[in-house]
Amino acid sequence: MTKRILSGMQPTNQLHLGNYLGALRNWVKLQDQGDFETLFCVVDLHAITTPYDKDKLKQSTREIAAAYIAAGVDPEKSVLFAQSSVPAHSQLMWLLATMTQMGKLSRMTQFKDKAGKNKEKAGLGLYSYPVLMAADILIYKATHVPVGDDQRQHLELAREIVGTFNHRYGENYFPEPESVVLAEGARIMSLRDGAEKMSKSAQSDMTRINLTDDADLIAKKIKKAKTDAEVLPEKFADLDTRLEAKNLVTIYGALTDKTGDEVLSMFAGKTFSEFKPALVDVAVDHLSPISLRMNELLSDTDQIDAYLRRGAERANAIAQPHIDEVMNMMGFWR
Ligand code: TRP
Repeated sequence: MTKRILSGMQPTNQLHLGNYLGALRNWVKLQDQGDFETLFCVVDLHAITTPYDKDKLKQSTREIAAAYIAAGVDPEKSVLFAQSSVPAHSQLMWLLATMTQMGKLSRMTQFKDKAGKNKEKAGLGLYSYPVLMAADILIYKATHVPVGDDQRQHLELAREIVGTFNHRYGENYFPEPESVVLAEGARIMSLRDGAEKMSKSAQSDMTRINLTDDADLIAKKIKKAKTDAEVLPEKFADLDTRLEAKNLVTIYGALTDKTGDEVLSMFAGKTFSEFKPALVDVAVDHLSPISLRMNELLSDTDQIDAYLRRGAERANAIAQPHIDEVMNMMGFWR
């Protein structure tokens, strides 16, 4: 059976260094490694499950697609598309909703976090978000899904839905999607609080480095990043209680393909006023080609739209026969 990867990100706000080092860069590795067929979508239908700006959705979708390409997703090698341009995602979601228990959805921690105190007021879309995510994966019979820790529970639910579908309608029809965890998938934390993940929704822009930040802004953010008064140690393990310091060393290592210990062998005994300028250099070197390429792509929406249209055709060509088979298996008049 084809080994097929599917993943996606929401078109909300801007992508940052954490998205790049933790996810995007690994997608590109998986694409280039050649063991998998790779599909990457912009999950615009998921983006409307919380309040959003309808006048910005279209452009945000293009921006995320541009970020994928700028980071190395090749729209020929991979299928790159917007979720909403493949109707079978929504169709399959409805069918899968009939085999998903409310109790399971109520236990999803992301729903609990996002719905907050007043669950009665939460939308059905937010509640059924994981069912749509399962449909995203299953409509392509994807076998592998690169996701972060926060999405593990959703992927587990997708596997359970597979179990139910296969049991009721056709043994082994859907493969159980496995998570792909890459060792290098660095966990990048906020520049202001080493215990918080770098996040696109954090209030202060100084907590993150966006893929579109220019060299001056990157330098400013790194210079202002929280640290401590001690010098850098020799062993990475000695940074376990110095979360902000650990994060900056992690970022340096991720950007230069070095382990924490390797980075420290260059900087042990040095202060942050020596380390930070070196970090600025590697960050700017690494990120400026990405932001340049993104801006280039976004200056010509025709080009990015053409990539998305082509991706939609290719994605529909895989998804449509599957939704037909599923509806036949479920007994619909066709
Ligand atoms: N829920 C994922 C997130 O917020 C995004 C997503 C939607 C996704 N559908 C997916 C990820 C399918 C992987 C596969 O990160």
